[in-house]
Amino acid sequence: MKLNIAVLAGDGIGPEVMAESIKCLRSVEETFGHSFTFRKALVGATAIDKTGNPLPEKTLQICKDSDAVLFGAIGSPEYDVNPTSKVWPEQGLFRLRKELGLFANIRPVKVFPALVKQSPLAKKVIQHTDLVIYRELSSGIYYGDKSTNEANTSATDTCTYTESEISRIAHLAFKAAKGRRKKIALVDKANVLETSRLWRRTVYTIAKSYPEVTLECLFIDNAAVQMILNPSQFDVILTDIMFGDILSDQGSVIAGSIGLLPSASVGADYAMFEPVHGSYPYAKDKNIANPIASILSTAMLLQHFKLGEESDAVVAAVLKSFSKKIVTPDIMGSSKYGTNYVGDFIADNIMELDGSFKMNDENIGLGKSTII
Ligand code: IPM
Ligand code: MG
Repeated sequence: MKLNIAVLAGDGIGPEVMAESIKCLRSVEETFGHSFTFRKALVGATAIDKTGNPLPEKTLQICKDSDAVLFGAIGSPEYDVNPTSKVWPEQGLFRLRKELGLFANIRPVKVFPALVKQSPLAKKVIQHTDLVIYRELSSGIYYGDKSTNEANTSATDTCTYTESEISRIAHLAFKAAKGRRKKIALVDKANVLETSRLWRRTVYTIAKSYPEVTLECLFIDNAAVQMILNPSQFDVILTDIMFGDILSDQGSVIAGSIGLLPSASVGADYAMFEPVHGSYPYAKDKNIANPIASILSTAMLLQHFKLGEESDAVVAAVLKSFSKKIVTPDIMGSSKYGTNYVGDFIADNIMELDGSFKMNDENIGLGKSTII
């Protein structure tokens, strides 16, 4: 398969983790005989520094001309501490998601048995976690009208959702649930917010077309508690842009490190793949950032193009890195392996599988055994 991939490494550790993802995709290309073309483009603080714009038109065009976008990370402390700035890096990501029509942000949270001790939560609580968050990504409070009064003493963010915006992501979530454990939890704040009440009405109606899927509704405050108390009760979580942002970071505590969680953002015409983590400026250029979230995002990219064997091969190589303890220090404090060593190991271990590989890695423990 021929794929043109736009590469937006962005800020902080973005370029470092992206380099490892490209190594892995090169390895997939070679092993499975594909042809991937990578086109780099500026985004975020890096783009502001060079062009004054967090999403230069050239970058947007490269993304629109590509089959998929690989995204690194965005954000820089100099803007975080300056809330009066008119321009800031994250605007580049918001605009990119909007321009590409990426309305669904798909964020799986899975506990790898090899890493079960990583989580600060008890093994018995988290060990069977296998959930996926369907987060609406192109509307709601992030995109509503915003204003500040002249005296800068009052500010407003508006949250608007339309039935069609809710329904398009709800259908995706129900379809995903059909292929999984057939359960959806709609997370909202319908006891307070009008938008949440619209979500409920719309999703109740859609649920009638998916009789095999069980729908439950939870308020966000309760969902946050339930996710920590008993994460394995969840299969598909369907929610809006803000609640989904918060719950997915919470999911990283269950998985053991935010450096492990990948994501896909999809719309009718485009798809983008990015780690859930941010730009982690403290770790920049220290060769300590975990490349796994970014590498697993490439596995989601391959899956998106129906390259299932290739995607499994990337996941299998990641599992092998766990079993051999080739991990960055966020996973094992005593680890002496850096970002590029872990990436090299994974890229070197991407190989055709004999068909027996299952995503279930129950038998692998850190340094104990390998099935691969
Ligand atoms: C995410 C991030 C972004 C978001 C930030 C960087 C704007 O937190 O993708 O989860 O809130 O969407
Ligand atoms: Mg976030």
